[in-house]
Amino acid sequence: MTVVSDPVSAVGSSDLAIVAVGTPTRRDGTADLSDLARACRGIARGVKLASHYVLVVIRSTVLPGTTSRLIRRTLERVSRKKAGRDFGLVVFPEFLREGMAVHDTIHPSRIVIGELDRRSGNALERFLKEFYGRDLPPLIRVNMATAEMIKCVSNAFLATKVSFINETANLCERLDNVDVDCVADGMGYDHRIGRDFLNAGPGFGGSCLPKDLKTLVKGAKHFRVRLRVAEAALATNELQPLRLIRVVHELVGNPRGKKVAVLGLSFKPSTSDMRVAPSVKIIRALVKTGMRVKVYDPKATENAKSLFGDTVAYASNVRDCLEQADCCLILTEWGEFSALTAALFVQTMKKPVVVDGRRVLKSLSLDPRIVYRALGIGRQVSDAIASRNCTMRREHPNRSTGPRHLI
Ligand code: UDX
Repeated sequence: MTVVSDPVSAVGSSDLAIVAVGTPTRRDGTADLSDLARACRGIARGVKLASHYVLVVIRSTVLPGTTSRLIRRTLERVSRKKAGRDFGLVVFPEFLREGMAVHDTIHPSRIVIGELDRRSGNALERFLKEFYGRDLPPLIRVNMATAEMIKCVSNAFLATKVSFINETANLCERLDNVDVDCVADGMGYDHRIGRDFLNAGPGFGGSCLPKDLKTLVKGAKHFRVRLRVAEAALATNELQPLRLIRVVHELVGNPRGKKVAVLGLSFKPSTSDMRVAPSVKIIRALVKTGMRVKVYDPKATENAKSLFGDTVAYASNVRDCLEQADCCLILTEWGEFSALTAALFVQTMKKPVVVDGRRVLKSLSLDPRIVYRALGIGRQVSDAIASRNCTMRREHPNRSTGPRHLI
């Protein structure tokens, strides 16, 4: 491998020029394509000088139609060559999860090639067949806009699945003996539904799902189409973090001066990334209501410092975070949290009140010394319908009254 800082020399010595720059969302919800355009201009200058066939591969996430409009035009204008004749152009979307990029590159669920013309598609397919050998994943070839569409709506569908189960969780909480995880298990066995992305929580975050969904909703409006389901998924996601704040307030009473220990800050486990993490919204709201917030995360503390400054305190471990707290709020399902014992909460906290946004400590509900409330689990009044995952029996003293059954 050779690392260069000049796109012209990079393209000059390559058969494939892969563009994978970010496409962040602007304030108005549209995608900022300036980095993409800049990268394409650099590549086009290389294509102009190249005496061989270069295949330009667009890996960045863009709205359907962007490659054939903006990217193709930029490449042709700057290179003074014709796409499909003098150089190749394909859209090759990635479906990588953060923290799993290497695994997902080596074992992708599918490969989608969006080709400008047959020759471009053939060139990428040849390369991929050589790369994957006998382990070639399912591969489909479509046109460029279809490939762009597949990427955008895949993320939109995943986000919708999360919002759907989050609303289901909110309903489960109002029922007796209903655990959203049992519901998700029961749904997930239906292969048309699938169990993945049915883990309820404080909302989806990260640098992709919220951004891509917003850009898609905005982009569709440009074509005078309203994506109401996607809009609803976004709206649900805005509200979901607020539910946990309400539960904390309900359990601690007057929030002013009360100490809350927040476990988990990153938008998902195994990363330090806090971009659009539900924890940010929740912590800011808790601080605003006068609560003293202390946070702990195995990896994200440094990022948290630049976001919250001295408005919160930072703990170096779970015990330190729980010390003398009036309430503990779990926001990210880090493995180390599920190993915590009831004794630790009882010994270190001022009052052992636990609000579990990810249901990682369901066994705490069995301990009479602890007030345990979990997102997506209804009040447990009998073990008549308890199952493997639904073994909560204790009634929560502070549980608000409301409808217990849907009829
Ligand atoms: C996502 C897509 O999964 C990936 O295919 C795409 O290429 C990039 O965006 P990533 O941002 O790494 O990947 O996060 P992901 O694992 O999808 O989780 C996104 C958010 O949804 C996280 O905040 C996570 O906590 C939340 N989530 C996910 C749930 O709350 N419940 C679930 O069941 C799944």
